[in-house]
This record gives sequence, structure tokens and C-alpha cells, in this order.
Amino acid sequence: MQIGKATSCANANIAFIKYWGNRDAVHRVPLNDSISMNLDRATTTTTVEFDARLNQDQIVIGGAEAQGASRDRVIAHLDRVRALAHIETKARVESRNSFPIGVGIASSASGFAALSLAATRAAGLELSERDLSMLARRGSGSACRSIPAGFVEWIAGSSSADSYAISIAPPTHWDLSDVIAIVSAEEKQVGSTAGHAAATTSPFLATRVGALPGRFHRVRRAVLTKDLALLGPALEEDALELHLIAMTSHPPIFYWTPGMVRVIQSTYRWRADGLSVYFTLDAGPTVHLICESKDANQIAAQAQKIPDVQQVIVNAPGGAARLIEEYLF
Ligand code: DP6
Repeated sequence: MQIGKATSCANANIAFIKYWGNRDAVHRVPLNDSISMNLDRATTTTTVEFDARLNQDQIVIGGAEAQGASRDRVIAHLDRVRALAHIETKARVESRNSFPIGVGIASSASGFAALSLAATRAAGLELSERDLSMLARRGSGSACRSIPAGFVEWIAGSSSADSYAISIAPPTHWDLSDVIAIVSAEEKQVGSTAGHAAATTSPFLATRVGALPGRFHRVRRAVLTKDLALLGPALEEDALELHLIAMTSHPPIFYWTPGMVRVIQSTYRWRADGLSVYFTLDAGPTVHLICESKDANQIAAQAQKIPDVQQVIVNAPGGAARLIEEYLF
């Protein structure tokens, strides 16, 4: 088999129905189905080169040599690719993001999606979208949703062999925007992996799991029929519930900051003033403001005025993970 070098690019995604908790943590098989939209302005670009002269993997993320757990996690993913390709060659990995890491934009989603595509291609493999999504999921659960295009559903499945994401609508389907309001550039203290593990200690997890199928179908229908008035309340409900589970886990995980609360309160005010905008949150203090693209600039301008908001990024629905170039020797 030919090996070589490949560069790929993948978008982060924002979940409308969240992945929070695993049925199988080792293989990242989630407790529930989830739905997301890819974010066209939040991307990771990754180059992987397998090189027989290397005696260990070299991993550079955002210009700096990766250390500790994040390095180990990339190497474990390269090992999955090497096992699939039946090679042992070490690799050079160079990755950069278009946005800050660890503040509540899923850098692990775009990161492991881009890594999965670049590494498999550089290893001479050409996986189907479904197999690539399953591979990306092993690196970071939400990464499976950054493989297909546009609006995406992750079918939880029952095991590692049937848990993958599919596109339910292309990016052009709906002019929806995610106006990301970054209120803290500090890296969060508790990562999602620890959050998923702690979820089962919350006494409210069973209530969430019971409520999810109904909410999932509402969100799916809202996306397919482009109904923001149906989507909005469901996505706010789901975001708050994720944080309820996190806060009531043992020990509690608390991502909230005063700035985040101020952005949420502003959302309620803008809505009372007639703007159709709803918030969602990931595992971090960043607030994602979901609206139609016709309102996005106005909402971005309003968000900029909130003193806690450091940066605003307006995203449209993004495409699938894509190969930029490859050289096989
Ligand atoms: C809150 O996919 O980051 O963003 O599998 O441990 O890497 P790992 O977790 P990750 O969890 C994402 C959690 C979330 C919700 C979501 O994107 O669905």
C-alpha cells in the first residue's frame, strides 16, 4: 500500500441536541442520538505525513509541540489508523484552528474529523463517509458529526459498529447562523471527556434520557421544515439541561461565568424586542446565538456591545470534512 502525506480541513459543529454521557466510554458510543450544524468559520486544517525515518510521532498543534494527554490522544488515534492500514510507520502531524481552543467551540470535533481524514488518506486508505465518521468518533464523539455536510444527525446506535453520523440536510438547506460570542479565552478546567464520565452520577440524567426522544424529533422536524420558532425553545431547553446534569454531577462541573449569564439575559431581551434569536451552550462559557442569517449582523453588533464579549464569530452552515491535497509515494 502507498503511504505519504495528506492535508484536510474540517468544520467544528454546534449541537442542537447534545451528546452528554456514554453508553460505552471506551468506544465513545453515546447514550443518545444528537443533531448538529457544521460551522463554516470554525475550522481545523491538519496535515499528516507518514515518514519511515521517524522513530516517534511528532505532533504540532497551533504551532506548538503537543504535550501530555492531548499528545497521547492524537497518538492513540494515529494507532487506530495504523491498525486499519496495517502499517507501523510514525507520522508528523501539524494542525491549526481558525478559532481559540477549549472555550466552548468544539475544537476536538473539527480536530479529530480533520485528523481522521488526513491520516487515513496519508496511510493510503479511502474510507466511506460512514466508516470515517465512526473512526472520528473514536477520537472525540462529536467529531463524527463533523464528517458529513451541513445539518447532521448522529445515530447513537447500540455498539461501536453502528454509531455514526449522517447528513440530514445540506448547508444550503437553511440560512441559519450561529453567532458565537466568546466571553472567556481561558481554557476550561474540566474537559468534555470527564463531563461524559460524570454524567451518570447526576440524579437527573434519567429524566433527561426520558425526555430526549420527544425533543430530538421536534428538533429534527424543525431543521427539516426550517422552523426557528420550533427549534429555538428546544435547543435552549437542551443546552440548559446539559448544564443541569453537569452541575449536579459528583463532583459538580460548573462552566458558567457572569459574562455568559449576561449574554443569555441579553438574548431574552432581544427576543422580547422582536428578534428571533435563541442561545445554546457547549461545555464551556461560550454562548452560541442561533438566528436566521438576515438577523446575524444585527445580533453580532449587539453582542459586541456587551463588555464581557471578547470576540464574535458569525457562522453559516458548513460543509463536509474535505481533502485539500495528498501525495502518496
Ligand atoms: C457539550 O465530543 O468533546 O459539545 O468524546 O470526550 O471528546 P469527547 O467529548 P466531546 O463532547 C461534546 C460535548 C458537547 C455537546 C455536543 O457537541 O454534542
